[in-house]
Amino acid sequence: MAQLDLSTRDSFGSKIGVVAAAAGSAVGLGNIWRFPYVAGESGGAAFLMVYLGFILAIGFPVMLAELTIGRRAQRNALGSFKKLAPGKPWYLVGLMGIGAAFLILAFYSTIAGWTLEYLAQAISNGFDGKSSEELKNSFEQFQAAPFRPLIWQMIFMFLTAYIVYSGVKKGIEKYTKILMPILVLLIIVMSIRSLTLPGAEKGISFLFKPDFSKITWPVILDALGQAAFSLSIGMGTLITYGSYIPKNNNLPITALQVTAADTIIAILAGIMIFPAVFAFNIDPAEGFGLVFIVLPNIFEQMPGGYFFAILFFVLLSIAALTSTVSVLEVVVAYFSEELNMSRRKATILGAIGISFVGVLATLSFGPLSELQLLDRTIFGWFNYLSANVLLPIGAIFIVIFVGWHLGKKNVLDEISNQGELRLRLINLFMVIVKFIAPLAIAAVFIYGLGIIK
Ligand code: PHE
Repeated sequence: MAQLDLSTRDSFGSKIGVVAAAAGSAVGLGNIWRFPYVAGESGGAAFLMVYLGFILAIGFPVMLAELTIGRRAQRNALGSFKKLAPGKPWYLVGLMGIGAAFLILAFYSTIAGWTLEYLAQAISNGFDGKSSEELKNSFEQFQAAPFRPLIWQMIFMFLTAYIVYSGVKKGIEKYTKILMPILVLLIIVMSIRSLTLPGAEKGISFLFKPDFSKITWPVILDALGQAAFSLSIGMGTLITYGSYIPKNNNLPITALQVTAADTIIAILAGIMIFPAVFAFNIDPAEGFGLVFIVLPNIFEQMPGGYFFAILFFVLLSIAALTSTVSVLEVVVAYFSEELNMSRRKATILGAIGISFVGVLATLSFGPLSELQLLDRTIFGWFNYLSANVLLPIGAIFIVIFVGWHLGKKNVLDEISNQGELRLRLINLFMVIVKFIAPLAIAAVFIYGLGIIK
């Protein structure tokens, strides 16, 4: 077998670079597109509470566990398991992650493509003078069209592949550091506009006043899936990124910063969307199209809306791009390290393979919309399967691996940078990864799917 030359392995350049890349992966359409529509479908505030509970109790520990595996092994998602557990079937967890990467990128690029379309519409002043009803209709027409959404999706896949191919350090890392704070600022500006619309209070109470009668097992599973999806955990993205993190980086602090940034942006997105939802009489349970219908309404109602709309969709596209890059990187790192491909070949092959699957996701809003199983389209299935099934299962195995296979001594060694950092909560962390997280995820999963009633 060919010996891997680790000295040529790429890595992140700085502490800020590590956080920018990992937060770039976490913060994306998951926060701004997915969180509001899932919360909207699941009753708002009660969903938010459960979601926050999962972020803290499970999301953060799983993230730290993944970073630990990756940095320990210095390999891709599958190779890391092979290296740390040679001759054992743990590598299957990595394989499942690579499958999840295919599914996620396939449907994520559909929505990323919609973002580009909306950028184009913003530039051509396409929202101007349209009523809430008209904005909704034009969205529905666009998503069901046979070609336009596909073309945008392919453009987006091309951009993703281009960046992955050029390496992460000099491109994405550099720009996200500047652009993500601007995105946050812009969301705050839009939240203020949204909050000052007549009738906004209803949106705020929808988001923050929980009605716990809305909580059912499927909703709890949705919250878990959303937490995992939004944090990019459960499929090896953070194993892969962890493998590029320098040995002197403080992993718990990194994980904490990424988790905090991700959560704050999701909540801000909620504050931006829900007041407007109620002010413009849009159904919070509108579904996949929610933000694309609501946002143009807000832009129309703000001074400088033309300018802000362009800026917003540029930034949203970039937020999406820093996430798609991290998903494709999982596949590319695997192809190049395990299957001995050049990075170029791995990128092209990965991107083309995913694009083929992605076509199905995009067309399931138009020509393939009748193709449904149990009330879900192909897009619906990709979305549901990855977030609510593959990521939770992946997360269970990842924590079990760290808790039971790696064991406390190795974990402590890796997380404490070989004894350099003092870790006060390591015992709590071990209890969570050994017992609490696997049991809690398994319970939510089994009840949420209705395996046990
Ligand atoms: N976390 C990303 C987002 O919220 C999506 C993602 C999921 C990225 C899984 C990588 C892995 O947009």
